[in-house]
Amino acid sequence: MANNLSNSLILIVSYFFLQIFLLNVDAKVTSIIVFGDSSVDAGNNNYIPTVLKSNFKPYGRDFEGGKPTGRFSNGRIPTDFISEAFGVKETVPAYLDPAYNIRDFATGVCFASAGTGYDNFTSQILNVTPLWKELEQYEEYQMRLKGYLGTNKAEEILTEALYIISIGTNDFLENYYALPNRQLRYTIEEYQNFLTGIARNFITRIYELGARKISLTGLPPMGCLPLERTTNLISGRKCIQKYNKVAKDFNKKLRALVSTLNNELSGIHLVFSNPYDMFYEIIQNPESFGFENVAFACCGTGTFEMSYLCDEYNPFTCRDANKYVFWDSFHPSEKTNAILAAHAVTTTLSVFI
Ligand SMILES: *[C@@H]1O[C@H](CO)[C@@H](O)[C@H](O)[C@H]1NC(C)=O
Repeated sequence: MANNLSNSLILIVSYFFLQIFLLNVDAKVTSIIVFGDSSVDAGNNNYIPTVLKSNFKPYGRDFEGGKPTGRFSNGRIPTDFISEAFGVKETVPAYLDPAYNIRDFATGVCFASAGTGYDNFTSQILNVTPLWKELEQYEEYQMRLKGYLGTNKAEEILTEALYIISIGTNDFLENYYALPNRQLRYTIEEYQNFLTGIARNFITRIYELGARKISLTGLPPMGCLPLERTTNLISGRKCIQKYNKVAKDFNKKLRALVSTLNNELSGIHLVFSNPYDMFYEIIQNPESFGFENVAFACCGTGTFEMSYLCDEYNPFTCRDANKYVFWDSFHPSEKTNAILAAHAVTTTLSVFI
């Protein structure tokens, strides 16, 4: 009896230590690998022939050194904050930036391209990198990393890395609702299913290539972007609730996809990171987060400017972007990015800490 008791005690104690051990193994996120669009592009578009760029002032004016890196904000973007929160590094560099090499990319790399989408056609509109090509660049990166560190060490890094996918807004706002092509072919529900299928293939593919810890990011309340409000002049620049509903519906489909893939792909640890509710809370109650402006962006008149229209000589640009939820008519300010990233880290991503 006494023996049984001590045996079970030993069992409990060793189970306890095993748990701690496993927790620590999980904690080894030593690299952040990013796929997506302008929400997470760290400057890849600087090196491709597109007009959709932001590597000039006033972009980056609150970034270290006031440097316009090609991030679509006044400062850092969410993936930079997430990388910092995991104790990796303060910014995740763009893969196409020749200022960085494979040594830098071993602790995090960004393949995102502003203006792209799940749908190949979305990337063609502004001649940016399609998602399948981000994947091709990732495969090339794997080869380079193996060459640099040796296969074993490289594979260890690739398995333990946190993969972040943030994409989809352009499929709806720049493609489906802006041009006739996709609307003629798909209802909005069919189009969402089409995109979800692409997301499924993409995640399956990076899983096959070795990714295990993956965060799929949902859509923001995209009907509240200042640019969309501007197209809603008749209603006094209110949020376009139709677009918000599309974002919510699509997020539901992504959430379901995440749960399906967690069942199908053994050993995968896939989470759905949904910025919608937190972002909507900020939009509804900007003052409680210290913001003074939500319907207009900081840059220019705050109604339509982004990329080249948001330029250094625009006299209307605000002085303090921290008072603005949005930096340009399509992208959050650094402060909003920080809040959204902190929310993601303390909720869904905390499982990887
Ligand atoms: C997108 O384009 C790539 C490259 O041409 C192709 O392999 C892929 O099947 C296309 N995706 C869809 C959903 O059509």
